[in-house]
Amino acid sequence: MSNRQHFARRRCGIGIIAIIAVIALFGAASAFALDISLPPDTAAYRSSDLPGYQLVQQNCVLCHSAHYPQMQPGTSPRGYWEATVKKMKKPFGAQFADEEIPAMVDYLVKTYGAERPAAAALR
Ligand code: HEC
Repeated sequence: MSNRQHFARRRCGIGIIAIIAVIALFGAASAFALDISLPPDTAAYRSSDLPGYQLVQQNCVLCHSAHYPQMQPGTSPRGYWEATVKKMKKPFGAQFADEEIPAMVDYLVKTYGAERPAAAALR
């Protein structure tokens, strides 16, 4: 066998080993597939005597928890909450009557927004 042929054989052998190694690695990776479990999205709306509290419990928990309202800046004014609630209806598709909007907005701004007692104390 010439030196050149010998070299070509060895390279081919290394190639096969590399392919087998890659297949083995993929096999190992799928055996260690990540199992990610997120905490349940169950944040509840803060209880209140305001009539909007009952309404948000009826109308706002179908798609997501109270986590989104909780995450909004505490300085958010009434107009922001009104726009947000309207957005949930259109385009997002929430099913509630337009007449229910003012009470929900009132509850939201006084519980999570600029009109909450804590926000008033900061002024
Ligand atoms: C039909 C499903 C649905 C209902 C019902 C619903 N939402 Fe949402 N809400 C969404 C979607 C979709 C988003 C956007 C999520 C995103 O951007 O990842 C969202 C986001 C939000 C946010 C985050 C701010 C923002 O502008 O995106 C707030 C606050 C919020 N919703 C409040 C409410 C309140 C209050 C109600 C009840 C009046 C409500 N949602 C009802 C679907 C809904």
